Amino acid sequence: MVKKYVSLLVLALFSFIMLHAQSLGSKPISPDLFGIFFEDISYAADGGLYAELIQNRSFEYNPGDKDAWAQNRRSWDAFTSWEYTTKGYGYGSISLETTSPLNNNNPHYLIINVEEPGGDGVGITNYGFDGIVIRKGEQYNFSAFIQNLSGNALSFEIKLLNKKGDTLALQSFSTNSNNWKKYSASLTPSAGDDSCSFAILCKTKGKFAIDMISLFPQSTFKNEPNGLRADIAQTIADLHPKFIRFPGGCLVHGDGLGNMYRWKNTIGPVEERVEQKNIWSYHQTVGLGFYEYFRFCEDIGAKPLPIVAAGVSCQNSGGTWRIGGTGQKAIPLKEMQQYIQDVLDLIEYANGPATSAWGAKRAAAGHPAPFNLQYIGVGNEDKQTDDFRQRFQLIYDAVKARYPEITVVGTVGPFYTGEDFDLGWQFANKLNVPIVDEHYYEKPNWFLSNQHRYDNYDRKKSKVYVGEYASQGNTFFNALAEAAYMTSLERNGDVVIMASYAPLLANKNHTSWNPDLIYFNNTMVVPTVNYYVQQLFSANAGDHYHSNTVSFNSQDSALVASCVTDTNGDIIFKIVNAGSSACKASINLKSFKSVSKEADGVILRGKPDEQNTFQDPGAVTPKNFKMNVSNSFTYDVAAYSFTVIRIKKQSQAR
Ligand code: AHR
Repeated sequence: MVKKYVSLLVLALFSFIMLHAQSLGSKPISPDLFGIFFEDISYAADGGLYAELIQNRSFEYNPGDKDAWAQNRRSWDAFTSWEYTTKGYGYGSISLETTSPLNNNNPHYLIINVEEPGGDGVGITNYGFDGIVIRKGEQYNFSAFIQNLSGNALSFEIKLLNKKGDTLALQSFSTNSNNWKKYSASLTPSAGDDSCSFAILCKTKGKFAIDMISLFPQSTFKNEPNGLRADIAQTIADLHPKFIRFPGGCLVHGDGLGNMYRWKNTIGPVEERVEQKNIWSYHQTVGLGFYEYFRFCEDIGAKPLPIVAAGVSCQNSGGTWRIGGTGQKAIPLKEMQQYIQDVLDLIEYANGPATSAWGAKRAAAGHPAPFNLQYIGVGNEDKQTDDFRQRFQLIYDAVKARYPEITVVGTVGPFYTGEDFDLGWQFANKLNVPIVDEHYYEKPNWFLSNQHRYDNYDRKKSKVYVGEYASQGNTFFNALAEAAYMTSLERNGDVVIMASYAPLLANKNHTSWNPDLIYFNNTMVVPTVNYYVQQLFSANAGDHYHSNTVSFNSQDSALVASCVTDTNGDIIFKIVNAGSSACKASINLKSFKSVSKEADGVILRGKPDEQNTFQDPGAVTPKNFKMNVSNSFTYDVAAYSFTVIRIKKQSQAR
């Protein structure tokens, strides 16, 4: 009850500040406006952000999984990325087993019977995700669960090998436990290579079972165990996102009920998590699970925004997006109570004391302090059916009743308009859902022509989270159209309270969706020019929007600007010219007190069709400059450019 009053008080205070600020000619902007959308699509997690180097580490890939959207389409099985290795004159046999697994969530494992170890041993080799990148002198941490099925001790060698087969690092250990036991070792290679393999070879005659073979670089992002690939994570951190939405996207509601993302399957020891195919058809280990998502949010100072399914599967379930399939399926009502409990348990997992049932699991994972969850999304682009509405309301009412301080984000379909959009908004209005999630992937000209979309949104209704948007391309013109649109999000930062470009990440060799914000392969991370636009908005976010401060000497929807002030009192201008003619912007600072003489500028400038590629990753990147400013000054706006001008620490007179 007390929490509810506190929430109401905060809301009343925000409304008071808004009225007050508006009477002073400025409008408050949501503190959480620019964030990111993470989905395991295009190998964003396994083979991407998640730093595990072994592909198919627990032999759970199966023929139902496939690399469906990749250039090299193929079905997978338990041996994907593995090879049975008999070197020298060694021989034996290998089989895939399920009778006595490590645990029931991880049913498949191998049995290898070494009849003759030969000179080099008998075992298996893994080729990672398109090869394993190894750097000289870095440490790589190996672990595996092994059950010795022989009467004698068995000795093993683990090796990192380059493409030619030369050994770059080697360690030995021996096993004697007849029960499953975890073995660990670390390898420090004498040389580096971009396409290595990892081998584990038994050098003794005998039989053993093996599962969950893992190899991580020691140097993950912030050195977190079970951590993230440092270069990709740092590129994300450099966006300075105010929030991270996870784990999707359509991956959340899944391809049929059995494929719905269940957060409880993704926490705890990695060998006990429940792996499954994701909606993008490939296998997800969920090694990057909810604990890791919360940790990453904390590590980069972003608020977590987990999304749970609204008790229905994706309306495109059971077939490709084009030919249709089984459609939306709903969790039977008699099972909804358990499902709702799972949602409530998620909130307890994030925020409950370490003494609570789910808070204790968080603490056991190494994080006794709460994760300070504030938002939870329910549903993703769902078709607005009675099944959806009934289940959404059950979840919504339960969260409101048990956790009134948590803000629920609802969903209004996959498009900026249309039936699901209209019905979704009607339903949100009926329930007074605090925030709704709008999605749109449209051409750049749509973004240029729709900059007034939110100007007349009713401020008394639900706030908006623009949860997925992109202008269908990675050229500089696309990025400029997005930048222009983002100035309109700032102008409407009192009603649009969050926004995230989507999707965030794509492995260049396995893209399920284009365009994306950041592309990577095993050795490179290539931020698109769209990325730099997102970064400049996020790093230069404000808490108040000021109108009537910039005017241009020509009128064009491709020519727009915004002016915000941040908590330090810095005045920040963003000026976008998505057109082919240079022009002049007149900037008026008269209503701000004591204007400094010098400003910091950043400019993105290029040709409209230019883009950052693996061949030319720096084609369009931000360039810093200094400029003199005064109470009233003119800025020459280059054709096809996006400029940020920051005038430091000024007190406001507005
Ligand atoms: O961002 C890619 C996909 O687009 C998301 O999974 C889905 O929500 C949307 O249709």
